[in-house]
Amino acid sequence: MTKGKILVTGGAGYIGSHTAVELLNDGYEVIIIDNLSNSNRFIIDRIQKITGKKVFFHQEDLLNFAKVEQIVSAYNNIKGIIHFAAYKAVGESVEKPVLYYENNIVSLLNVLKVMTLFGIPNLVFSSSCTVYGQPDILPVTEEAPIKKALSPYGNTKQIAEEIIADTVYANKNLFSIALRYFNPIGAHESALIGELPLGIPNNLVPFVTQTAYGLREELKIFGNDYNTPDGTAIRDYIHVVDLAKAHIVALNRMISGNNKESFEIFNIGTGNGNSVMEIVNEFKNATGLDIKCNIVGRREGDIEQVWADTSLANMELGWNAKIPLREMLSSAWNWEKAYRADSKQEKEKYNLNLEHFKNLMALGFSNNGFNAEEINFLVNKAKDVGISVANWDEWMKEVSSFTFQIPQNMDEREEYLADLVHLAMVDGKVHQTEYDMCLKLADKLEIDAENLDKIIKLIEKLWKNDA
Ligand code: UD1
Repeated sequence: MTKGKILVTGGAGYIGSHTAVELLNDGYEVIIIDNLSNSNRFIIDRIQKITGKKVFFHQEDLLNFAKVEQIVSAYNNIKGIIHFAAYKAVGESVEKPVLYYENNIVSLLNVLKVMTLFGIPNLVFSSSCTVYGQPDILPVTEEAPIKKALSPYGNTKQIAEEIIADTVYANKNLFSIALRYFNPIGAHESALIGELPLGIPNNLVPFVTQTAYGLREELKIFGNDYNTPDGTAIRDYIHVVDLAKAHIVALNRMISGNNKESFEIFNIGTGNGNSVMEIVNEFKNATGLDIKCNIVGRREGDIEQVWADTSLANMELGWNAKIPLREMLSSAWNWEKAYRADSKQEKEKYNLNLEHFKNLMALGFSNNGFNAEEINFLVNKAKDVGISVANWDEWMKEVSSFTFQIPQNMDEREEYLADLVHLAMVDGKVHQTEYDMCLKLADKLEIDAENLDKIIKLIEKLWKNDA
């Protein structure tokens, strides 16, 4: 017997994946809808690995209402939705406001529409302390006035809270809790899941761990002239697992009918503020590693200091953040190391597997496949990366008469394509000629160009990180 099904949008993301783990541990079944725009499929496997339980995963965009409706209609009796799926980069939102409003608002509207359509009663919404701007009184309570948003991203959170309030007040069968997150950091103790920033991280802790790993030269500290004890800005950093657990108690509260209002809002932080300098020093203490720092000017749109008054969440939800700062930082570091080591192994795996290479060539040989030039290129690349065969001519003859069946399993097909992409890389990039070759195989494997591009991007990133 499970406690019922919960739909988690954005469940492959940073906070979503940690929450999925806690939901499964608490006895719920988890359905995830995620378009993987800022996450990766392997995270789904990791959630299953940590919990030993199955996740029902659908790679879909929440903007596609017809598809979302179709997915949700296949399940009955979903008890609640935790809605994470959203864009979250402040700077990018200033450059691309329409993208942010469309993605963050329309996806919420679609979530509310399926809730009404299928009678799903409970919603936990990912909000942010960004709605307070620079509060006049610290620690900040839920009663503090909402300040004009400093970015379209921040505005989407404010608007979303209003849309949810209007919707639940108009519908007596709907309930919602918005959690206003402070600054989530750290990773699951297994180091199997964690934050996966694309490109150069915007947030402090991923920047610190990447600098410690040697991927970034130095940490730029944005301003030391704030009106704080050491001059650097102060935030309330909370371990992502503590934050994930707050979602479970919020959900349980609504499911058991213990909520006092149809829409409730809680601050989710630790109640402590730490400065940027304190984070850097505590990271050094936690890991024994030094980080090169450089003090630069303030970052536009940053506030000086904020930390949470968490008494409402403590009292009403019976929830408390428990994990200390040092553990937040050591877990972030353990994840960074584990993730980099896995990436490296992954890279090597593609280069070294002869069996895969043979199947790949057989696939490529089949009708309208690779041309002579492409085959030549691939064999040379195979030699370069250390695939050794006693007699290449004979091996090629054998392979050309061998028929390898296209695997049923999409993941396996993607692995073959990823193998080819690895081989197609020249100086860390897939160039046009090689791209055409990859496209041919993608076509045979029935993988669309969009997914091929995603695989290429990922592998190019791996190479860059390992370089
Ligand atoms: C930011 C957003 C917040 C959003 C959150 C989600 C702003 C103003 N706020 O939070 O709305 O919900 O991300 O991702 O952007 N810092 C450095 N050097 C760095 C990176 C950060 O000194 O390389 C400093 C920042 O100036 C800040 C602190 O570290 O004082 C934390 O920064 P960050 O992790 O980006 O979080 P917020 O800015 O609080």
